[in-house]
Amino acid sequence: MTSLWNSVTKKTTNFSSLKGNIKADIVIIGAGMAGILTAYLLQKKGYSCVILEAEKIGEGQTHHTTAKLTVQHGLIYQKLLDLFSLELGRQYYEANLLGLKKYQEIIQDKKIDCDFTQCPSFLYSLKNAELLEKEFAAAQQLGIDAFLTTDTELPFPIAQALTFNNQAHFNPLKFLYALADDLKIYEHSKVVAVDDNEVITETGKVRAQQIVFACHYPFINIPGYYFARLHQERSYVLAVKNAIKFQGIYLGIDADGLSFRSYKDFLLIGGGSHRTGENSAGGKYRILEETVHKYWPQASIISSWSAQDCISIDGLPYIGQFASSKPNWYVATGFNKWGMTTSMVAAMLISELIQNGKSPYEEVFSPQRFAVSASAKSLIKDVGQSVKGLSRRFLEPPRAMVENLPCGHGGIVEVEGEKVGVYKDDQGQIFVISPKCPHLGCQLEWNPDEKSWDCPCHGSRFDYFGNLIDNPAQENLLVKNYQY
Ligand SMILES: Cc1cc2nc3c(=O)[nH]c(=O)nc-3n(C[C@H](O)[C@H](O)[C@H](O)COP(=O)(O)OP(=O)(O)OC[C@H]3O[C@@H](n4cnc5c(N)ncnc54)[C@H](O)[C@@H]3O)c2cc1C
Ligand code: FES
Repeated sequence: MTSLWNSVTKKTTNFSSLKGNIKADIVIIGAGMAGILTAYLLQKKGYSCVILEAEKIGEGQTHHTTAKLTVQHGLIYQKLLDLFSLELGRQYYEANLLGLKKYQEIIQDKKIDCDFTQCPSFLYSLKNAELLEKEFAAAQQLGIDAFLTTDTELPFPIAQALTFNNQAHFNPLKFLYALADDLKIYEHSKVVAVDDNEVITETGKVRAQQIVFACHYPFINIPGYYFARLHQERSYVLAVKNAIKFQGIYLGIDADGLSFRSYKDFLLIGGGSHRTGENSAGGKYRILEETVHKYWPQASIISSWSAQDCISIDGLPYIGQFASSKPNWYVATGFNKWGMTTSMVAAMLISELIQNGKSPYEEVFSPQRFAVSASAKSLIKDVGQSVKGLSRRFLEPPRAMVENLPCGHGGIVEVEGEKVGVYKDDQGQIFVISPKCPHLGCQLEWNPDEKSWDCPCHGSRFDYFGNLIDNPAQENLLVKNYQY
């Protein structure tokens, strides 16, 4: 589970943890792409910033990204024009285009060696040409430099592809580490509570005028109510050697569509997307491996990993004021798997809001928006999922007995009249946890591809020892001590 970025990026970081009480103009929670960029831009504007990071820089979702830098975010523009308006479509596009240019500007100004490479970006489909034609029409309305083609580098025939020129890709960790050198960061400093102007870790406090939540999934439930409007989706990536060197970056829009980009001699192939907590059948890596063997039988797999991102109910990020009752709190979340350019958008937007009280792009990203037509279907689905996750704990009978669980597998079983989660390792050793998610109580599901316990409600994840891997949950699972 080591990403290519970790293995090819030699540098690492070693910031101390927060000890004692300090003050700053702004405190930023989370040192992923969104947090680091926000602190960097705010510091450039003259604010003193402190970043508190629970683990290490970039080791949330950012080190597991495929790091395409593009304004081509799936079929976003036809959606924006259909469900919102031309004006909001324009705001979304222009903000992301500025974000893309800002990367280039920072990389040039600071002379960052992060393998930034300009390239065309492609959406492709094997069967839904008309969807891409519709997206092309939306792109034309917004003045985007785009064209339709069936001539691509892909090793299989396609029905249609939509190309955006002048996009890019890079190595996200090299970029992040270069920016971190200039910032005040505390690693291993998990925020456990947030007051109006105070952010508290187990060993210290930061008092600040403004607080930015750049922690991927906001872990404060009320105010904000992000748990009612965000779920998470997971996908899987292989890094492969001796396959092919693509010039462009590619994303399939069909249900089983794949993502491709090259980095130096490596090909990154991604896919297998599913709602977190809904992969009990597994086999996601296997599908990617089969694709590699089919098209590039000489290739070898160097590393594999998976990651997840927050998906909002209307498909647009939440960037801006955290909640109307907290005028000095800001949030950047719901990046819908496009958090590279969108992290830059978040950094630009939040720094403008803090400095000027407004931004030309605030409306389309406002966390306070609610477009009924765009949100209703997903909202009903999300609420239904949470009810299902909660009721499963009480109503659904366990699916296996411990004795019947094969080695290397996990599942919900009944032990001494109690429903528990059990993983049996390859040697037959048993690890037992309570399958109740400490966030809001949904029943966890076993993910055989990652050997983890994943929550279908809002996407918290835990290893088989019960340790927290991904938020919004903040605590480990209860470990059960049964003798067999
Ligand atoms: C498989 C995959 C491929 C992707 N590829 C692309 C791509 O090609 N292009 C693109 O634009 N986007 C892509 N994305 C999306 C992108 O990677 C993410 O949107 C982005 O990395 C999110 O960055 P972040 O800073 O919001 O979150 P993170 O990187 O997760 O950072 C949040 C940080 O907050 C910290 N934190 C959490 N809770 C606390 C706390 N209580 N106290 C202190 N710190 C805390 C975490 O430890 C973490 O380091 C992809 C996503 C996936 C899943
Ligand atoms: S993540 Fe919210 S209940 Fe599990």
